[in-house]
Amino acid sequence: LGTTDIALGELEEGQEVTIMFRSMPHFVRLRSASEVEDAANVQVSSLPDRLARNRNLDDNAPATDDNRSALTAEIADGVEISDDLRRSLLVTSASCTHLGCVPTEGAGEFGAWFCPCHGSHYDTSGRIRRGPAPENLPIPPMTFISATTLRLG
Ligand code: FES
Repeated sequence: LGTTDIALGELEEGQEVTIMFRSMPHFVRLRSASEVEDAANVQVSSLPDRLARNRNLDDNAPATDDNRSALTAEIADGVEISDDLRRSLLVTSASCTHLGCVPTEGAGEFGAWFCPCHGSHYDTSGRIRRGPAPENLPIPPMTFISATTLRLG
């Protein structure tokens, strides 16, 4: 199925890149502390989709911010990486879960992503908060293969 390696050293706080993984666009965002805090303060019970949708966790894992972040990535033997960095890193599919458009960064009512096709708003954890999209943006399998490289797949 293939893997994609992401060089984390090129990302600055608050910066996002879009990469291709298995022929599909994915967002890689190194979130600011306030973006993480905003997402962590949301009650899962208030979310339209309460599941993490994270391939690194069980299917029924709840959509807490920790469960959406790269805290859930595997860590290869011998690799040391801080919890803060793992928590700041968010990797999601860039395909809106409504009909597959690519949401726009830095837009919408939750300061994260807005899908202009039919008006879906996602938060800084990539969770659907308002609009027709039924599910949170999915999170691919991830492994830190070094302190500065995250492998998808
Ligand atoms: Fe995103 Fe319809 S495809 S809201």
